[in-house]
Amino acid sequence: MSDRKAKLMIDDKTIELNVLSGTLGPDVIDVSPLVANGYFTYDPGFMSTAACESKITFIDGDKGILLYRGYPIDELAMNSNFLEVCYLLLNGELPDSLQYEDFCKNINRHSMVHEQMRNFFNGFRRDAHPMAVMVGVIGALSAFYHDTLDIKNPVHRETSAFRLIAKLPTIAAMCYKYSIGQPFMPPQNKMSYAENFLHMMFATPCEETTPNPILARALDRIFILHADHEQNASTSTVRLAGSTGANPYACISAGIGALWGPAHGGANEAALNMLHEIGDISQIGKYIAKAKDPNDKFRLMGFGHRVYKNYDPRAKVMRETCHEVLEAVGAHNDPFFKLAMALEKIALEDPYFVERKLYPNVDFYSGITLSAIGIPANMFTVIFALARTIGWISQWSEMISSPYKLGRPRQLYQGLTERHFVEIDERK
Ligand code: SDX
Repeated sequence: MSDRKAKLMIDDKTIELNVLSGTLGPDVIDVSPLVANGYFTYDPGFMSTAACESKITFIDGDKGILLYRGYPIDELAMNSNFLEVCYLLLNGELPDSLQYEDFCKNINRHSMVHEQMRNFFNGFRRDAHPMAVMVGVIGALSAFYHDTLDIKNPVHRETSAFRLIAKLPTIAAMCYKYSIGQPFMPPQNKMSYAENFLHMMFATPCEETTPNPILARALDRIFILHADHEQNASTSTVRLAGSTGANPYACISAGIGALWGPAHGGANEAALNMLHEIGDISQIGKYIAKAKDPNDKFRLMGFGHRVYKNYDPRAKVMRETCHEVLEAVGAHNDPFFKLAMALEKIALEDPYFVERKLYPNVDFYSGITLSAIGIPANMFTVIFALARTIGWISQWSEMISSPYKLGRPRQLYQGLTERHFVEIDERK
């Protein structure tokens, strides 16, 4: 707590508010005393609102900085692996070799799902969007784990985190297998996390397959880059749901629902669909003009960011990984990927995008990379959810393990003042 004050002069009243400083980032003004003085703050979209304190992830949108527990995202993406980053986000420190071995054992122990989970899939059409299936099936996990739903119990919280980290890939791959009518493939604990996911996605009982190590490494990096991102829309949803005391599976299911939107996690699928709609390099100008037209709702999906008004540091690593994968699968000269690179170049040079600092974000490159790996577009946000689950459950756990309040924002009411009921015959 600092002794710095902000003085708010309203009419003949002066309200003194505390100014608080974090270890990094802007100071905040503690506005909680306002309600006692008869005022609310007003901040649609929470553009200038710090909703909580956290030690997990730091973003500086102007400098293009992203730190997970203090470690720069590019160092982790290039030198670590996803399970090590999961340990870091959850526990605050990178694991030593014994801690890492024990953590991997715990995750592997939970990688299978209850056999009855299969029945949930039969309730969905084969062509259901996999995110609709994920919202339902992840939420339904709480129907199986009554033994560890005491959110005040740290062991229960840790077990729920293990179960979610371990089961998300299994359930995500089941969504894909169900959509193509192939049998579910059980997890292979001898494989790495990313290899295992590719195995469950693309292997069949008919033949042995070995995931391509370059693609597995790229996927592991995509998981790291998407693991957490401060108080974004879906993480804020998880925290708000968690503040009611809801169980962690219900909270993660709420986060999946929020992530699905095309302005948020759905942008990678939307970016790929947009590239297919553009179709040819000759059409890029038409779509850039649509994106610039204030009367046209069209936006260049995969460009711009609420926080990064500089280059998304994840996009830099993602771009490198994208080119590695295109090389590995021999797709560098594929017209579709050449179209994507042409759009990137034109947008980076166009004054409209430069002035508004609308750079390609992580979703632009992750969509192209996942497509090159052979993953269908409707599974992109599922993979984003798979990766972001560690961020959601770490932020949820951080909130639940220290004092917190039920989240309950207020409003600026613009509706009718009080009036009284009249019988239908007396209404005009
Ligand atoms: C993610 O919050 C997170 O951390 C999210 C995320 C995470 O890891 O959790 O990083 C993941 O969601 C990344 C963002 C993915 N979304 C997209 O790629 C969808 C396309 N992008 C836009 O919808 C938009 O850029 C937003 C919503 C992401 C951010 O928009 P802002 O910051 O709210 O800014 P804005 O909408 O007010 O736009 C400012 C100006 C406007 O023009 P003017 O009114 O000033 O003339 O920029 C324009 C906008 O019209 N603009 C775009 C644009 N994005 C903003 N114009 C064309 N194409 C775009 N993509």
